Amino acid sequence: MTPETPAADPKSNPNPPPGEPGSGAAPRGPDWWLMMKAFLTQGRKIASFAPSSGFMARKMIDGIDWEQARCVVELGAGTGPITAQLVKRLRPHTRAVVIELDPTLCGRLQARFAGVPNLDVIQGDATRFDAYLAERGIPQVDHVLSGLPLPSFPADLRDAVLETSARSLAPGGTFRQLTVMPLVYYRMYARYFDDVRFRFCPWNLPPGGVYVCRGFRGGAVPAK
Ligand SMILES: C[S@@+](CC[C@H](N)C(=O)[O-])C[C@H]1O[C@@H](n2cnc3c(N)ncnc32)[C@H](O)[C@@H]1O
Repeated sequence: MTPETPAADPKSNPNPPPGEPGSGAAPRGPDWWLMMKAFLTQGRKIASFAPSSGFMARKMIDGIDWEQARCVVELGAGTGPITAQLVKRLRPHTRAVVIELDPTLCGRLQARFAGVPNLDVIQGDATRFDAYLAERGIPQVDHVLSGLPLPSFPADLRDAVLETSARSLAPGGTFRQLTVMPLVYYRMYARYFDDVRFRFCPWNLPPGGVYVCRGFRGGAVPAK
């Protein structure tokens, strides 16, 4: 694993508490508490007050052909419920790149998945995930798994994530998006992809599901 942590700001607290940027220590407390705290302090940037259930995490990765997959990218991994499922299935020939913006949640990920071969956990902004891939010499990805709160992103950043994902996908690849508002954003994803399917997951808090999108429309994205 090669975590990317921004250089410490010299003006910042020299002794930050565990889990804060620069502390070098893993954040304490159960995953649900870390998510709840992040949600209470950052609201729409986090979008969910609890980590995804195991049912939801498995829905996200269901049907991936691990014999074929060479690279899987996860955007907005939170405390890592989907990463955990991913890691269980990773083959020696499959690389996984996991990106999380929040330093505390990313600290949990880095502590939890330290030493997992073929896994990069990056503290960074998923809207520039193509740059992280380029730095690692990864030209294409087989599957993009997004837990990002895309509907609450500014339209240009949401477009950037969807277009970059779509353009980075290998033939036959999928873009998968978590949601806790079943089917509400179906049309939004259908603007970018020819084939959008929704998998409902009642066993999550709150109930939600996963959009599985294939076949980037290419060229200019149709008008909203
Ligand atoms: C709804 S939570 C999903 C967390 C996790 N995937 C799960 O299933 O429990 C959304 C996550 O996206 C992260 N996030 C939001 N904006 C981001 C960005 N621009 N780049 C990377 N991560 C981001 C948040 O910090 C949060 O952890």
